[in-house]
Amino acid sequence: MKHLIPEFEKMKERYPAGFESSLVLPCLRRIQEDRGYVADEDIAALVEYLGVPRAQVEEVLSYYTMLRRKPIGRWHLQACRNIACSMRGVESLVSHLEKKHGIRPGETTADGRVTFSLVECLGSCGTAPVVMLNEAYHENMSFESIDRLLEGLK
Ligand code: FES
Repeated sequence: MKHLIPEFEKMKERYPAGFESSLVLPCLRRIQEDRGYVADEDIAALVEYLGVPRAQVEEVLSYYTMLRRKPIGRWHLQACRNIACSMRGVESLVSHLEKKHGIRPGETTADGRVTFSLVECLGSCGTAPVVMLNEAYHENMSFESIDRLLEGLK
């Protein structure tokens, strides 16, 4: 994480003194972007750098599902399991993923390429069911469109 400190210093300039805790989330996002996840050593380094309690960093990490504590596959598929997506058949989609592609919630495929997670509302309820593949949204998903999405992965 130490090589990111010059970037963190630039971020710090945007906040008034005494608001270091506001930097926890943007710093964690940058760390994850760099490493792929947030390691124990990153938490320790961030606590020391920002001078915030470790519990504050842990709270942010446990609240946001977008932040990860361990490595995942190259592709992160996230399916919304909330009410609108549930009413529009996300459970069938999840079953389809398991039966046809061997992809199960909370797991990474045997080849290490795809990690699948169920998450809460992705904020696109009008186009349910919705999945995210890495940073991109895919809406109105069907068995056919999820098959195409997975078959297009390199
Ligand atoms: S309920 Fe699925 S995006 Fe909101």
